[in-house]
Amino acid sequence: MAKIVIFDTTLRDGEQAPGYSMNVDEKLQLAYQLAVLKVDVIEAGFPISSEGDFKAVNNIAKKVKGPVICGLARMLEPDIVSAGKALKPAGKRRIHVFVSSSDIHLKYQMKKSRRQVIEMTKKGVKLACSFAKDVEFSAMDATRSDPAFLHDLFSEAIEAGAGTINVPDTVGYTIPEEFAVLLDGIMANVHNVKRSVVSVHCHNDLGLAVSNAITAIQHGARQIECAINGIGERAGNTSLEEVVMAIKTRKDFLKSSTGVKTAEISKTSKLLTAITGIGVQPNKAIVGENAFAHESGIHQDGVLKKRETFEIMTARSIGLKKNRIVLGKHSGRHAFGVRLSGLGFKLNKDQLNKAFERFKQLADRKKEVFDEDLGALVGTEIPVRSDAYKLLSFTVVTGSDEEPSATVKVKDIGKGVETKRTGSGDGAIDALYNAIGRATKEKGMLLNYIAKATTPDKDAMSEVTVQVRFGGRQGPTVRGRAASTDTVEASAKAYINALNRYVEEK
Ligand code: KIV
Ligand code: ZN
Repeated sequence: MAKIVIFDTTLRDGEQAPGYSMNVDEKLQLAYQLAVLKVDVIEAGFPISSEGDFKAVNNIAKKVKGPVICGLARMLEPDIVSAGKALKPAGKRRIHVFVSSSDIHLKYQMKKSRRQVIEMTKKGVKLACSFAKDVEFSAMDATRSDPAFLHDLFSEAIEAGAGTINVPDTVGYTIPEEFAVLLDGIMANVHNVKRSVVSVHCHNDLGLAVSNAITAIQHGARQIECAINGIGERAGNTSLEEVVMAIKTRKDFLKSSTGVKTAEISKTSKLLTAITGIGVQPNKAIVGENAFAHESGIHQDGVLKKRETFEIMTARSIGLKKNRIVLGKHSGRHAFGVRLSGLGFKLNKDQLNKAFERFKQLADRKKEVFDEDLGALVGTEIPVRSDAYKLLSFTVVTGSDEEPSATVKVKDIGKGVETKRTGSGDGAIDALYNAIGRATKEKGMLLNYIAKATTPDKDAMSEVTVQVRFGGRQGPTVRGRAASTDTVEASAKAYINALNRYVEEK
């Protein structure tokens, strides 16, 4: 059995995808769970890219034990120095340096010759080695590069000290048979390849990321870069749960294994959804709602007679459990805390107290509190560092014969000032958001609004996720989320949550 290193990039490539940006606390929550899942490497971020990313990598390096903690850097001195600093507290650290290798990138993006790229690589990898023993080198856009140049570049990177060489299909362009030829070429022509681990990083633009990754294993790759729920740039990255379960289910054919604790897969996928507010499609392999549901009579009949007739893996193997634990208004802080850690949250005392307070308010309004409610509640409550604004009250008037209007009272926490303002709009939510805009003097452009019920019951909570651009056309897009038994209240709070994130980022 070949051991496959699972390199998780949910917090770096995944987090770069629109709508998935996470703050420092949220990244830490997920990193704790990735350690429980037993991935081998956590790519925690791109430290030079922002202060927030630096802090996230640094915090994860300090607090998350078990996996190697990795930070990304371009082949530039300031990037590598920043990654080295951010990763310093980690027990096991890796710097991941990358440079483009395709002619199209060299000519139009980098404006560098092949010779210059080789020189940058030699220098950059050596510098990275002075901060970490474990250095990974990626040749960006490898699958559209001249193989001969790729061989030279990888040889030089290994010579300079790279212990892992990564072959990214950056634009999700390659096809399994073609990728196999590229990997065979690397194995045969990179003279020192045996001194390194060959890794692949496949994007899913043609829906082939997992197929390409599996093909790569058959052609000698021993590290797979992947992300929970397959998130990542554009159409995403290789889905961790799919590739890991394919390796486990078809070990007879692939003759390889991973160290991932697959019974933690479902929890990790749901935790990512709870944190980002973005779920997976129902038919998503492994973690979709329907992945283990048999609807047709013939299938149900077969599964009842012998499970293996229509099921290739068990729901239990990814940690799906049948019994639903329900909390209610008599549940105590201890039971609440235990349930939250069962869902993968690791909160500090303050966060737990705040979340418990919110749980008690919810339990007064809702008889039974399910895991999905807790996920929505706590996922939205992992606090932005210090809220700038708080919604104190709201009223909305709407009807088929009236112009919708809303009045809100908002507190500017820093100044200690409460402001009440009214707004009108095309609909109740538009009026509400206009009123908040007036009260806070922060004009936002609503780009996306999603409201969904957390559970199918009648008194379900409503979870609202918004994307808002503040600060004009060039301003940043931020995500806001809130959950409540009242959709209008959740809508108002989700908008305020987005505003608080904007202020925090600013
Ligand atoms: O897709 C890509 O090429 C990357 C590299 C930084 C590895 O994400
Ligand atoms: Zn990528």
